[in-house]
Amino acid sequence: MSGRKRTAVLISGRGSNMAALVKAAQDPDFPAEIALVLSNRADAAGLDFAREHGIETLVLSHRDFADRIAFDAALDANLRIAGIEIICLAGFMRLLTPWLVERWRDRMINVHPSLLPSFKGLDTHARALGAGVRVHGCTVHFVRAEMDEGPIILQAAVPVRGDDTPDALAARVLEQEHVIYPKGLALLASGRLKVENERTVVEGERPPRDVLVVPRV
Ligand code: GAR
Repeated sequence: MSGRKRTAVLISGRGSNMAALVKAAQDPDFPAEIALVLSNRADAAGLDFAREHGIETLVLSHRDFADRIAFDAALDANLRIAGIEIICLAGFMRLLTPWLVERWRDRMINVHPSLLPSFKGLDTHARALGAGVRVHGCTVHFVRAEMDEGPIILQAAVPVRGDDTPDALAARVLEQEHVIYPKGLALLASGRLKVENERTVVEGERPPRDVLVVPRV
């Protein structure tokens, strides 16, 4: 397929969501190609996966820059040199400056391990268990300057079990992250998303039919 959108995936660690995007993009009909995997840490485990799959990688250590602005300017320059059209944040543990976020407005997406706007930030699974929620999940959203904010593109919900540990719940959620992140990228890359009044409109979206009630009684 021609005209696939050149996409960069930004990681800081394990990179399992990046791997899910790479695998999805191996389908020639997928509307995005993963053209670059960029990490702010040289020891990010995900870099090996990307190299093994023949994807260009780049390490840009934030420690080499005087401040956030300088780091983000270098990030932006490298993305442009690589001809990148879409950015996917995938466990990229850096706060981005409003300047960078605005430059990539509606072309930069993120996956977060909660049903936003609940549980922004870190340790989402432990906090969900602490709050006693019956349903937890993950969100793919456009990136805005405030952390874990931005128009929601897709969400997946999973049940919380009585005997869940944060790790068990995280694993159940992560499986769904790997499902919805490629779907979110495909929607964006194929031009099916619009943002109106800071809400995402999905072209051709079918209305949901089911209601999820937990516990089932
Ligand atoms: C994922 O669970 C992702 O949702 C989360 O970091 C993990 C990265 O795992 N991101 C955030 O919390 C962003 N606020 P991965 O490196 O295996 O994809």
